[in-house]
Amino acid sequence: MDKKIGWGIIGLGNIAQKFADCLTLVPEADLIAVASRNYTNAEEFSNKNGSKYHFGSYEELFACDEVDVIYIATPHTSHENWSIQAMNAGKSVLCEKPLGVNKMEVENMVSAARKNNVFLMEALWSRFNPSIAEVKSKVDAGLLGDIRYLHADFAFYALDRPTEGRLLNPDLAGGSLLDIGIYPIFLAYLMLGKPESIKSAAKFYKTGVEIQVSLLFEYPGAMAVLYSGLNSSSEMKAEISGSKGSIYLNPRWHEAAAYTQEINGHSETHALPMKGKGYEYEIMEVNKCLREGRKESSLWSLSNSLDLITIMDEIRSQNQIKFPFES
Ligand SMILES: NC(=O)c1ccc[n+]([C@@H]2O[C@H](COP(=O)([O-])OP(=O)(O)OC[C@H]3O[C@@H](n4cnc5c(N)ncnc54)[C@H](OP(=O)(O)O)[C@@H]3O)[C@@H](O)[C@H]2O)c1
Repeated sequence: MDKKIGWGIIGLGNIAQKFADCLTLVPEADLIAVASRNYTNAEEFSNKNGSKYHFGSYEELFACDEVDVIYIATPHTSHENWSIQAMNAGKSVLCEKPLGVNKMEVENMVSAARKNNVFLMEALWSRFNPSIAEVKSKVDAGLLGDIRYLHADFAFYALDRPTEGRLLNPDLAGGSLLDIGIYPIFLAYLMLGKPESIKSAAKFYKTGVEIQVSLLFEYPGAMAVLYSGLNSSSEMKAEISGSKGSIYLNPRWHEAAAYTQEINGHSETHALPMKGKGYEYEIMEVNKCLREGRKESSLWSLSNSLDLITIMDEIRSQNQIKFPFES
């Protein structure tokens, strides 16, 4: 086998640990280095996850020669800054979703990737989920005929979380849309493309962040009904329905381990259990791209990320969803 791909992780919070667990499932990936703003945290994370190096600043990790690609696991508001610094240091980057807080940030990141001739991908892991990938192939092959209706939601109760935490804090670009609304929007975009028009409504929390968003995407021959929320849970079963049949992605659909297709009254469930929590599939995609010398993934490209943030900017503009650092 070729040399393993050397991974670095910055921002050692909730998602970084899940990601590190999944890295161990990918034989051709090696966790080389981890970095936290706090040296002790980095040391503890390193001891737990077996990285060769640990650093008390992100910049030290960017300078580590053995690291090929850096996973950015910090809050939304710092994705642009840290990704660009990593790419300017010559590193490839897998950055958590949303790639940037707005279109301008994503454009700056794409420019930095092109200028430095390095790989960049938004960590939209659901694109690589085996059930979603298989459903996408079936939809493209025409199994459901013409798609006419899509429904997807993503909600959980988060009002018991600290108001200074990233979900409810406007200074950290909190709210449901960028954190979880991005998933239903992604599914509609993956299956139907860019909508012709968008209708939307939002409700806000006392901290100023939006905590409910309802969306109606209109296409020439279809409608998508989407929802995200932080003030209650929702079923999270997604439905894609066409002139010849329907497919239902099991809850929680963005990390589905099975889907059911119903064609001509015949129902069939396909189980596609994941090896781990599901991040292993995006890791495998990044490794594959790096081995092939690609600068972006064809399955989740930089133009896909630009389309997604353009849609979210439009929804934010319709509902006056603005963050303090943007005014
Ligand atoms: N793909 C998924 O399933 C998934 C799930 C959850 C979250 N995410 C994404 O991952 C990102 C991080 O989410 P998370 O839930 O892991 O957040 P988290 O638990 O708060 O961790 C974020 C980490 O970023 C670092 N950080 C740097 N600047 C910070 C700041 N100003 N305030 C707070 N932390 C800061 C901290 O690590 P150090 O102190 O070690 O530097 C912190 O532990 C978000 O963009 C989110 O959208 C993705």
